[in-house]
Amino acid sequence: MAGVELTEVVKRYGDVQVMHGVDLTIEEGEFCVFVGPSGCGKSTLLRMIAGLEETTEGKIEIGARDVTRDDPSQRGVAMVFQTYALYPHMTVSENMGFGLKMNGHPKAEIDEKVSMASRILKLDEYLKRKPAALSGGQRQRVAIGRAIVRGPEVFLFDEPLSNLDAELRVEMRVEIARLHKEIGATMIYVTHDQVEAMTMADKIVVLRAGRIEQVGAPLELYRDPDNRFVAGFIGSPSMNFLNGTVKDGAVEVPGLKTSVSPQVTLPSDGTDVIVGMRPEHLTVASGDVLGVDLTEALGGVSYAYLTADTGEKIIVEERGDIRSNEGDRVTVSIEPERIMLFDANTEQRIR
Ligand SMILES: Nc1ncnc2c1ncn2[C@@H]1O[C@H](COP(=O)(O)OP(=O)(O)O)[C@@H](O)[C@H]1O
Ligand SMILES: [Mg+2]
Repeated sequence: MAGVELTEVVKRYGDVQVMHGVDLTIEEGEFCVFVGPSGCGKSTLLRMIAGLEETTEGKIEIGARDVTRDDPSQRGVAMVFQTYALYPHMTVSENMGFGLKMNGHPKAEIDEKVSMASRILKLDEYLKRKPAALSGGQRQRVAIGRAIVRGPEVFLFDEPLSNLDAELRVEMRVEIARLHKEIGATMIYVTHDQVEAMTMADKIVVLRAGRIEQVGAPLELYRDPDNRFVAGFIGSPSMNFLNGTVKDGAVEVPGLKTSVSPQVTLPSDGTDVIVGMRPEHLTVASGDVLGVDLTEALGGVSYAYLTADTGEKIIVEERGDIRSNEGDRVTVSIEPERIMLFDANTEQRIR
C-alpha cells in the first residue's frame, strides 16, 4: 500500500494552463474524493496520477517513489472509468483476468485472483456470462473486479457511477465503501456529485478551475468552509447567500429588512459582505419581508422557496410541514451562530 503526494503539479495543453500548481497529500489507505464542477480538472489530475496524461511541471510520488515520468504500468495503480470498456466476446471471468494473462501470469494465480475479486464483488454466479447479459451495475462491478485482480497500491475511479440510475448509484456507493474497508487500499475517487463525496470520503478535495479550494473531512467542509465557493458546493440544497453591509457592529441585510449579528470578528463599517445561511438552519416565521413562491412537502422534510423584495432567493428546509402557502408574505429566523460571513470581494470566509 502507498500514499500519494503531489507537489506543485502543473498541466498545460499547449499554452492553455489547466492545473495551476497543486499540492496535495493523500495518506496510505485513505479514501480521497476529488469533487468540483464539470471542467475543473478532476479527470486531468487523476489521469496525471495514473500516468495517462503527462505532467507538465511538478512531482508525483506514490509510496516513496517519484513516478512523475513513469509509465502507467510501473506506477502500481489501477483505474476504473465511467464507461466500463469490457471485452464483449469474453466472459466475466476472462475480462477480469485478461490483464494478468497478457502479462504472462500463470493460470493458477489468475484463477485465484479472479475468484478473490469475484467473492468480494459478489460476482460468483456471473463468472461465465458475457457482458451483454449483465446489468449496468454488474458490468461496473466487473470493471472494478478487473482493477482488484491487478492488486494495485492505489485505485483510481473517474465518475464510475455516473452511467447508473439513481437507485443503483446508492447501492454501488455502499459497495465501493465496503470494498475500501475490506481491502484497505488507497483510493482516489472523482465525482461532480457532492452527495457521493460527502458519503464516501475520508478526505474531500474541492477543485475549481484547476486549483484546490479546500481539503478536509466531509463535515469539516460543511461546518467550516474557507470560502463562498466551498460553502455553496458542499451541502444540499445549497447555502443561501444574501448581500449585506457592516454597520454599527452588525450586518445590515436589505433582503431581510433587518440587521443580523453573526458570531465573528466583523470588518470595519461600510464593508460589503455576503451573508451565508444554510436552508436547514432557517425557519419560516410570520412577517412581511419575503414572498413565498412555492412550498414542497416531501413528508419528512419540506422546502419553502422564498424571494426577497431585493430579488434575492432563499430556500428554507424544515422538518415536517411548512405552515405557509404560495403567495404568503413571511420572514425567516436563524440562530446568530449559524450565520456565515464572506468578504464580498475576495469571497473568503470572515471568521
Ligand atoms: N486534451 C485537451 N486539450 C485541451 N484542453 C483540455 C484537454 N483535456 C481537458 N482539457 C481542459 O482541461 C480542463 C479540465 O478538464 P477535465 O479534467 O476533463 O475536467 P473535469 O474532469 O473536472 O470535468 C477543462 O477546461 C478542459 O477543457
Ligand atoms: Mg471528468
